[in-house]
Amino acid sequence: MSNSAKPKRIGILTAGGDCPGLNAAIRGVGKTAIVEYGMEVYGIRAGYTGLINGDIIELKESQLSGILTLGGTILGTSREKPYKMENGKDLHKPEKIKKNYKKMGLDAVVCIGGNGTMKTAALLAKEGMNVIGIPKTIDNDVWGTDVTFGFDSAVQIATDAIDRLHTTANSHQRVMIIEIMGHNAGWLALYSGLAGGGDIILIPELEYNIRSVCKKIENRYEDNKPYSIVVVAEGIEHPKNRSAASHIAEAIQTYTGIETRETVLGYIQRGGSPTPMDRILATRYGAYTAQCIAEGCFGTMVAVKDNALTTVGLEEVGGKLRLIEPDNGLIMKARKMGVSFGDEFL
Ligand code: F6P
Repeated sequence: MSNSAKPKRIGILTAGGDCPGLNAAIRGVGKTAIVEYGMEVYGIRAGYTGLINGDIIELKESQLSGILTLGGTILGTSREKPYKMENGKDLHKPEKIKKNYKKMGLDAVVCIGGNGTMKTAALLAKEGMNVIGIPKTIDNDVWGTDVTFGFDSAVQIATDAIDRLHTTANSHQRVMIIEIMGHNAGWLALYSGLAGGGDIILIPELEYNIRSVCKKIENRYEDNKPYSIVVVAEGIEHPKNRSAASHIAEAIQTYTGIETRETVLGYIQRGGSPTPMDRILATRYGAYTAQCIAEGCFGTMVAVKDNALTTVGLEEVGGKLRLIEPDNGLIMKARKMGVSFGDEFL
């Protein structure tokens, strides 16, 4: 299809780790494409695997009803990377994708995913397919947008967990370590740590020193606060054969002698129903994507900048990460309130 012809048939896929809001986004794209633009909508199963195998199902408008509040993705997902060699072998997956794209008569494909998904989407766009990306991930680390859906829901879940740890930490006068997801980014740990009143927050973007962490805990002890909450991002520097939380817990117990316990929150952070904020964000992204398809704005990722919807070129996004700057405003404010990032007293 040339960019000037009207797109009639579109495909949608969800790839990478799941997160709350995926179904809201599928619904936003699909309903707008059908109701406003009269397009046919197809769901591609299990991320890029479905494109490689030609595994698609038609999504009628009625099938897009009742999914707004559902967690996970009705289409399934996978971490398939079609451009990656397998054991040094080229399985010609991009060629299979291009063939299926034509065979299925698709005029455009919507790829909903995180950094890895956008990287693949950019390569497919380069091959001449009409591709638009929608950024999702609990990690909030997609370059080119201020926010991804899934993040707000995960912050909510992690904050709730930290709240619960507070009461048990206080009762037992213990140090409680909680490990938060986020891959190489600290957004989720920073936001849930601040919302949950964490005393120490360790994120990959700031180098911590365990002596500094212990000093903060001992100072609290001396100030009549004989319990502490330490929020640890999974991506901080730690030995690969154990969790970040257990590494930090053992060091604190050894150096301070204060009883310390650890919790790794894990996949609970990605599960369940999206928050209202994520439902709205995913819906905005979805509806805008359908409009972008109708306007032929391909090779882009939809994004939010200063709360307004916009697009960025996929080739700009692929392969980059949006990490926290050390002078991030929230970090500066938290420091002024006495929150430690494990890099003081050095
Ligand atoms: O990107 C979302 C995320 O949950 C990260 O926070 C985490 O590091 C990773 O996915 C876990 O990946 P997997 O689902 O492959 O175990």
